[in-house]
Amino acid sequence: MTSNKKNGTRPTITSHVMGELNKLGCSDTPTHLSEIDGVLIDDLAERFGSPLFVLSERKLRENVRRLFSAFQTRYPDVIYGWSYKTNYLGAVCQTFHQEGAWAEVVSAFEYEKARSLGVPGHRIIFNGPHKKRAILAQAVNEGARIHIDNLDELYTLEAIGAANEKVIPVAIRLNFDTGFTAPWSRFGFNIENGQALEAARRISDSSYLKLCGLHSHIGTFILDTRAYEAQIRIMCVFMETAEAETGCEIDSLDMGGGFASCNSLQGNLPSEQIVPEIEQYARVICDTLLEVTRDRTARGKPQPTLILESGRAMVDDAGSLITSVVATKHLPDGRRSAVLDAGVNLLFTGFLYNHPIKLAQEPQGIPEDTVLYGPLCMNTDVVRASVSLPPLGINDRLVIMSVGAYNNTQWLQFIEYRPNVVMVHEDGEVSVIRVAEDLQAVTVQERLPEHLRIGHQVSSDQ
Ligand SMILES: Cc1ncc(COP(=O)(O)O)c(C=O)c1O
Repeated sequence: MTSNKKNGTRPTITSHVMGELNKLGCSDTPTHLSEIDGVLIDDLAERFGSPLFVLSERKLRENVRRLFSAFQTRYPDVIYGWSYKTNYLGAVCQTFHQEGAWAEVVSAFEYEKARSLGVPGHRIIFNGPHKKRAILAQAVNEGARIHIDNLDELYTLEAIGAANEKVIPVAIRLNFDTGFTAPWSRFGFNIENGQALEAARRISDSSYLKLCGLHSHIGTFILDTRAYEAQIRIMCVFMETAEAETGCEIDSLDMGGGFASCNSLQGNLPSEQIVPEIEQYARVICDTLLEVTRDRTARGKPQPTLILESGRAMVDDAGSLITSVVATKHLPDGRRSAVLDAGVNLLFTGFLYNHPIKLAQEPQGIPEDTVLYGPLCMNTDVVRASVSLPPLGINDRLVIMSVGAYNNTQWLQFIEYRPNVVMVHEDGEVSVIRVAEDLQAVTVQERLPEHLRIGHQVSSDQ
């Protein structure tokens, strides 16, 4: 039987938003985005498949140049270490290294990756709570800046120094309460309870270690720049105390990362209303540091080198995820939903942020509250629980924006293959910087014991 029913759109009622802002900031109007750095999104998806991660080389360079300029114009001696864990795809790291960034690594894997990309040991900052003796010995040998996290690591380093009859310059990681951020007390040595000063004394008693630097990373997505002012003041008081008590000479202060990116934390106001500009962080950090070290430099001591390890603020807005609709449904409660080909296994930060979502085609129809599911056969695979979108159809494309930080490192190969990652270069050329997985890539590490090999079936009719 043929139907002569015409296709139509179900009537809907949408709430009227007065003016441009509602009580949570901007109204959630989806906008349309047809290209990334001049390259059509449809062309990208057709050439490289969907889903697809796209990184903008232009944006990466722009971000890191802006950071260097903001800090170097305000402070005489600045080192920036690219936080590998934020995105350690080789092309991303190399872009930053070409711009003058060191590598900031937190594991043997990340250390080895930085070395394999040609970063010399003396331009590697080695943080983290887990550094086995072999990688520490290599890092010592190659002249890396080692930031000690705990006493056991301190003893291991001392033993390495003794074995090599060498004095190793080291830094210690500090933790403390800034009054503006929840203290991350699991990393490093605590100032308030005296652990940190004890560690400094222990180092000064050692014939094989020399304390030269202080490090702290006070948290992430820090919106209140006063936290950095407090961080500097506390670290500088500790620097003076440690120098006076132990005779060490501190030549560098590493302020870690933590600058907020252009994303909107769930339950927060939109980023454009609350995220400080990089120059605002720079002003607070550099002005405070110059102020609190004024006496020190007047006494003839050198200005400490300022080290920064900003992660998400450098890469988030350089990354986008193109995804396509594979099915649409109306839920029993009347809401629209769509199943996308990208799920939470690719978008770890979807649990934290309301990433901006744009349509790759002109919006048509009335926007309605929509649930976006991923392709995983898991109830938890909800890419966005609620977003206002016009009706979606199969093969429609969406762009999930500002996904450059922590997704290409924390993503999971779970149920689905992980897709291609491409970089759009400054000249508009596009290249694959991580090839999509296939069965061979996913199973290459597996081994089948002899008796489980194909052809060795144990069956009753053998
Ligand atoms: C030691 C250290 N430095 C830098 C970073 C980068 O942080 P963010 O992405 O918040 O800038 C991290 C992240 O956890 C870190 O642990």
